[in-house]
Formats: sequence, C-alpha cells, structure tokens
Amino acid sequence: MTEIGSEAAVALTAAASRLQAMTVSDLFEQDATRVAAFSRKAAGLHLDFSKQRLDQDALNTLLGVAKQFDLSGAFKQLTEGAPLNITERRAALHTLLRGTAAETLATQYSDVRDCLARMRLLVDAVHSGGRRGHSGSLFSDVVNIGIGGSDLGPRMVCRALDNEHRRLRAHFISNVDPHDLDTVLADLNPATTLIIVCSKTFTTEETLTNALRARQWLTAGGVSHAALAQHVLAVTTNLDAAAEFGIDIDQCYPMWDWVGGRYSLWSAIGLIIALHSGWGAFEALLAGANAMDEHALSTPYADNMPMLLALFELWNTHYLGAETHVVLPYSQRLEKLAEFLQQLTMESNGKRVNLEGQTISAPTAPVLWGSAGTIGQHSYYQLLHQGNREFSADLIMPLTNGDVDLDAHRKLAANAFAQSRAFMIGRSTEDAQALAASRQQPELAPHFEMPGSHPHSLLWCDAITPATLGALIAAYEHKTFFLSRLLNVNAFDQWGVELGKVIGRQIRGILETGDGIDALDPSTAAAARAWITANRA
Ligand code: F6P
Repeated sequence: MTEIGSEAAVALTAAASRLQAMTVSDLFEQDATRVAAFSRKAAGLHLDFSKQRLDQDALNTLLGVAKQFDLSGAFKQLTEGAPLNITERRAALHTLLRGTAAETLATQYSDVRDCLARMRLLVDAVHSGGRRGHSGSLFSDVVNIGIGGSDLGPRMVCRALDNEHRRLRAHFISNVDPHDLDTVLADLNPATTLIIVCSKTFTTEETLTNALRARQWLTAGGVSHAALAQHVLAVTTNLDAAAEFGIDIDQCYPMWDWVGGRYSLWSAIGLIIALHSGWGAFEALLAGANAMDEHALSTPYADNMPMLLALFELWNTHYLGAETHVVLPYSQRLEKLAEFLQQLTMESNGKRVNLEGQTISAPTAPVLWGSAGTIGQHSYYQLLHQGNREFSADLIMPLTNGDVDLDAHRKLAANAFAQSRAFMIGRSTEDAQALAASRQQPELAPHFEMPGSHPHSLLWCDAITPATLGALIAAYEHKTFFLSRLLNVNAFDQWGVELGKVIGRQIRGILETGDGIDALDPSTAAAARAWITANRA
C-alpha cells in the first residue's frame, strides 16, 4: 500500500478487485467509445490507454488521488526551483534547460543561455572547420566519455537521431572495463577525433580512468601535449578537478548542481548530440521537451499525459500486482530507450525511505526493462504471454519510419499491433481446446491457453524527430516525478549508489597490495585472492 489516504486506498482496492474479475476484452464490450475516451494527445505524442485494466470509475478515483497529492502544484514548484531534492538541499531544474519558467528564474536562465551560446559556437566551429584537430584535419568523430546520466541520455538520443545526415560520428565510452575504450578507439584516428569528458562531479572512477586512457591514446597517436586542448573538452560542475586533470578552463562547459545527472542531456552533457545531429536538431529536441513541460504544467489532471502515465504505474504496481514494467519500442532507433529509462526511473524512485525518513514497506519503483521489438518477441515475450509474472507495458512506435522499405516497416507495425492485441485477448480456454482438438492433441489445450488482459498503453508519434523525441523523454521525466510524489520519495538523490562506490575504493586498494584482505567477508576475500593470483605478473 502506498501513502495515499485510506479512503482512496479502499476505493482503489475495491476497484481493482472488481476489474480483476473482468477481462480487458469485457471492458471493450461494455463501452464502445473506450478508445476515444481513453486516448490523449500532447506535444506530438498520442497515448491510447484503452488496453489498461481500467474503467472510468477507477480512473476517476486515481485522478482524485492525483488531486489529493496536488501533483499540478508540486510540478509548478519543481519548475520554479523549489528545493524539492531535500536530502541534497537542491532544486531539480532540468525543465529550465529547455526554457521552461525562464522568466521566473531569470538569473539561472541567463547562465543557461550563455552556456547554449558557447555550445553553439563550438558546434558551428567544428562543423564549419573553424575548429580542427592538431594536424589541421576536420573532426570526423566525437567520443563521449561518461557514465550514468553523463552517458545514457546522449547515447540514446544520438542513436535515435542517427541517419545519413549526421554531422559527426558519435561514440560512447562508459565502462571501466578496458575493452570498452579499446574497442571504441581501435577504429578511430586521433587526428580527427574530439573527446568530451562528461562528469558532473568529475570524481567518477570509471570516467576519470577512461579519460586518462583516452588522453594517452591521443598523445600516443601524435597529438602533442600542447595540442590536447584542441581535442579534449569537459562538461562538469567541478572546474578545479577538471583543471587538475589538465583540461583548460576555456575547454570546460558548465553543469549546475540544480541539474540531476539522469536529467542532464538537455545541458552541455548533450554536446555530443549537437555535434552529431546538428545544432538545429538539438534546439528542436529542447523545444519538444519544452512543449511537454508546458503540457504538464497547464493541462488539467484528466488530460495530463505524464500524470496519467504515473497513475497507471501506481495502479498497475500497487493494485493490480504488476511486478515489472516493460518498455517495448517498435523502432530500432529507440533501442537504447529502455536502458535510459532504467536509470531515470529506478535511480529516481528505487527508494525505501520516504520524504520523512520513514521506511516504506510497499514496492516503490517497478523494475523497468525492455528492448526494441521485434527482437524480444523471439526471447522473453514467451514469459509475457504465458508466464505467471504480472507486468505492465508501454508499446512505443513511430507511425512512419523515414525513407525505408515500406514492406519491412509494415511488418514491424503489424508485429507491434499483434503483440498489443495478444497481450489483451490472450487465448481463451475454449479457443485453446479447439486448437488442440484441430491438431488431434487435446492434451495440449492447457499449453495453448494464455490469460491476456495484460495492462499496457500504446504511445505513438508520426515520426521520430528531435521534437517528438524531446517530448517523449520529457513525458517520462515528468511521469517519474509525479510517481515520486505519489510514493512520497525523493526522485532526485541516489544514496544507494554511493555504498558500492565506497566499498569499491576499499577493495581496489586491497587488490593492489593484498593488505586488509582478511578483514573482508570470507566470500569476497576468496574471490579477491583468486583475482590477485590470476593477475600476478
Ligand atoms: O551512478 C551514480 C551516478 O552518481 C549517477 O547519478 C550519475 O549520473 C553518474 O553516477 C555519473 O556521475 P558524474 O556525472 O558525476 O560522473
């Protein structure tokens, strides 16, 4: 049970047992207008939630909860810079990065504008050849070194916007596993490669290790120390650490403590997006996100797309027993979306303590996973259709797919619609028996039966453009925030990540010297001893 008032919780529990006794197909039979009544549009996105296990009464109760929590008021506070990240005493102003509430926050916005102007100068200079590599060659490749929020967002967007009009090839190095960097750099030429070290804190082990190795790669490849400034940029709040690392201050682009890492692709962390896709594309991405911000700010509860998405998650996870939430983009260009959303939703709302510091007994963020359709259909969809774990899902698709083979694109769409329909209708006992009988194998009937009624939404846009992508990402950001309010958790801290970092630092020392190994627990000590033995020179 969440922290919603007992009256609403009782009403929702009653609605859930009423609806669990029906199928979603029953709901369609009861209400012929269901698709129109349960569809919304915002900022170029179309949401059809008619296949959620929901009726108007249950939706009204959920909307009552949203009002009780004053989700609209909380969102306005967020966008106007209230310090809602209470454990770090900070605002979370990613919306300002796309100009939302710029008039209210004129001082901070002038910093944002200055940063955008500097970014644009850089991007124009690289694209026009005004800025070149040390040997005078044009840059052909840009490498982003970062992790978490300093990697996943730009990586996902560059993949989604990649096409033959790309300005520079974009590459990403994230893992401290040396194979990541070695594989990416193996095909690149130091003379034509620009490297951006993205780290809000400039203390992250993976990023600093990779930045050091990338710099060695540049110098070994003929870039003199004096010319490194032409090839290496940084994006950070920690200018001192970047300077200590050897990056010139004028090659550093700012971040602010009021932007969370997983919400930062709209800042200079998105430089690689602009270098890859062009400045116009980056601006359109910001504009699309701003359109979703304005929608979320000004649209009444019942039509507010991100708010509805949050309410469905509350409903499915807390009342209908969904254990996980699956994101299924029917677009190869969105193949990185689920990974990005994993950090956004699970780092934001995967908390066990509420805003008052009390333990929460109910699940908070659902486990989010997924991958591009149709690939998953030949892998884990078996569990979705016939397994006994409850889930909810978003199926996402662009209606058009650029200038591609229409026949293949039609097959992709047919698969998306087929899966959505199969999630809903399943296969009844009677149909399973008929199928088994037609194969003269009546004993197989139980194997052919599928429950269906898996709650999911369809989310589509005309095409994946920078603007629709910006709106889509912002919709999920706001869904995450609204859900955090319903769960009464802080969406903007990540104390859980710190634990592993602290222990990691201790163990790194132990692996270097062997000292202190006996103080570890026996299992970790045995693994560490095995590692030391295997790596002894
Ligand atoms: O994974 C934890 C985390 O702190 C994320 O929140 C953040 O996005 C990532 O590390 C990278 O941090 P930084 O940008 O400071 O290197």
